[in-house]
Amino acid sequence: MKIILHVWRQSGASAPGRMVRYEVDNANAHMSFLEMLDVLNEELMNKGEEPIAFDHDCREGICGMCGMMVNGVAHGPQPRTTLCQLHMRHFKDGEEVYLEPWRARAFAVIKDLVVDRGALDRIIAAGGYVSVPTGSAPDGNALPVPKENAELAMDAAACIGCGACVASCPNASASLFVGAKIAQLGLLPQGQPERESRALKMVAAMGKEMFGQCTNIGACEAVCPKSINLEVIARMNRDFLKAAWTWRGEQASSGGG
Ligand code: SF4
Ligand code: FES
Repeated sequence: MKIILHVWRQSGASAPGRMVRYEVDNANAHMSFLEMLDVLNEELMNKGEEPIAFDHDCREGICGMCGMMVNGVAHGPQPRTTLCQLHMRHFKDGEEVYLEPWRARAFAVIKDLVVDRGALDRIIAAGGYVSVPTGSAPDGNALPVPKENAELAMDAAACIGCGACVASCPNASASLFVGAKIAQLGLLPQGQPERESRALKMVAAMGKEMFGQCTNIGACEAVCPKSINLEVIARMNRDFLKAAWTWRGEQASSGGG
């Protein structure tokens, strides 16, 4: 099958970018989207041209490295599917496809379709962990977790940090990502000691990294390849507000606010 690609090419962060047209004549329906790009890159290299830079690692939908806008949709046309798991059978022979990097102020373009998602790592470093000394693994029944909480925590933990939610949000908000990370720990007993300080630190870090505010549009949930639910944003907001009120109360009682 033949695919006509229009690809964003940009040699570096401060270089100007532009769309470049390529024809891939020898794609087939069984290829993954990234394999089709591999074929194009091999052709480009054989011609002595610069291959297209794009992020990937596991190609199994679990690492969160891949991702780009395909015809304006993060990860492409298949719902709940990472770009590496998207196959060419979902495209028509001769179809024109436009590829662009994630667009968000917090995600600077490094090269072509590769963006810097270090801002998400810095939000995790601000508080997305359990820092109590845990010692050896506890007995399976020593820390009872209600079944509903266990399932909700597992659902939130499915977030792979791909950044599609940010790229799809008109505000470039990272709330779905941050909400998932806060919820996965806040629903479990191990996450309780730092629950409020975690919300304060991670929400502050999100603002510092220049992500926008959530205005409940839901574009993030619609493109999330791991079906992270908007409910995690409500959990994040609850934890954050509770922490903020506790902090204000402490300031008032100590005469500081
Ligand atoms: S919430 Fe979904 S879209 Fe956002 S980073 Fe996590 S997996 Fe990706
Ligand atoms: S390459 Fe790992 S999720 Fe796509």
